[in-house]
Amino acid sequence: MPQAATLPGTTDRRLAALLTLLSENATIVISGARIAREIGVSRSTVWRWVERLRELGVRVKGQQSAGYFLEKVPDILTPDLLRKRMKGKLFGKRVYHFFKTDSTNRVAMELGYAGEPEGAVILAEEQTAGRGRSGRSWHSERGAGLYVTLLLRPRLSPVQAPLLTMLAGLSAHSAIQAQTGLSAELKWPNDILMDGKKVGGILTEMHAEPTQVRFVIVGIGINTNQEKSLRKESGRTHSRLELLVRLLNEFESDYNRFLREGTRYVVDRFERVSSFANGKRVRVETGFETYFGTTAGLTSDGLLQVKREEGPVTMVVAGDVTEAR
Ligand code: BTN
Repeated sequence: MPQAATLPGTTDRRLAALLTLLSENATIVISGARIAREIGVSRSTVWRWVERLRELGVRVKGQQSAGYFLEKVPDILTPDLLRKRMKGKLFGKRVYHFFKTDSTNRVAMELGYAGEPEGAVILAEEQTAGRGRSGRSWHSERGAGLYVTLLLRPRLSPVQAPLLTMLAGLSAHSAIQAQTGLSAELKWPNDILMDGKKVGGILTEMHAEPTQVRFVIVGIGINTNQEKSLRKESGRTHSRLELLVRLLNEFESDYNRFLREGTRYVVDRFERVSSFANGKRVRVETGFETYFGTTAGLTSDGLLQVKREEGPVTMVVAGDVTEAR
């Protein structure tokens, strides 16, 4: 049975029910009494929650005496709506939704340690301390992007975990293509670029024993409707819910194939999809050194190989790879 998961700070189930009720009757005035009855709270609570929704940027019109209505259905990723769209799927059983949190990856790590089962989806409308790669931050403007973390408990060794980052990149790439009709660039290991600008990134973190992963969290950020975003590149606004549903479905089927078919599935597909995997002139910064070269495919473990301008083919284990023109 799908569950509305609760955790301090997550969207109250009844607040979400209010939002769903208003959304399903958008532009129709619903009396405070009816809302109170359907949700099972007092009329004064309805009024307080309407105020709360307004503070969160939802355009609720009307007043206590006459009733309320939504001027426009908000693109909010309420757990109810998501669960309806993800019936029977792994990523849809347990959804944690926050209007505001520091980082969905931080929340997911905490849930992981607390024994949360595989498949949990942690979503935020806004992050105040979104985490990026290499200790960078991830700017997470309210309601404009997708900020989501998935919790996995795969039977993998820790060295295979980076493949999940690449896999999430592939899933995000397919979801973006299906949503916008545009083909993004996938840069090793996990950046999504459009017109050379980064519109998405993935941050994977894990808790593992030396030979066995305990859990992995895959945090995905996609700039959907902000300045440098899918909207900017495609010329229209995108429903974050639609994009999220596509992303979760893609990831679920990619993840199952990876578990069935192994590393080869990820590496082969990445080489096919990413224009960075072969023949791209790049600059590599590892923290120890910086060098230029041309990409020469992936190893069977998914590491990028670069033929240095002066020197041998080197495997990039970690570091920043950027296109060098
Ligand atoms: C990168 O630097 O490319 C990775 C960015 C990852 C951002 C996402 S947004 C959802 C999740 N929560 C976080 O704090 N970070 C990831």
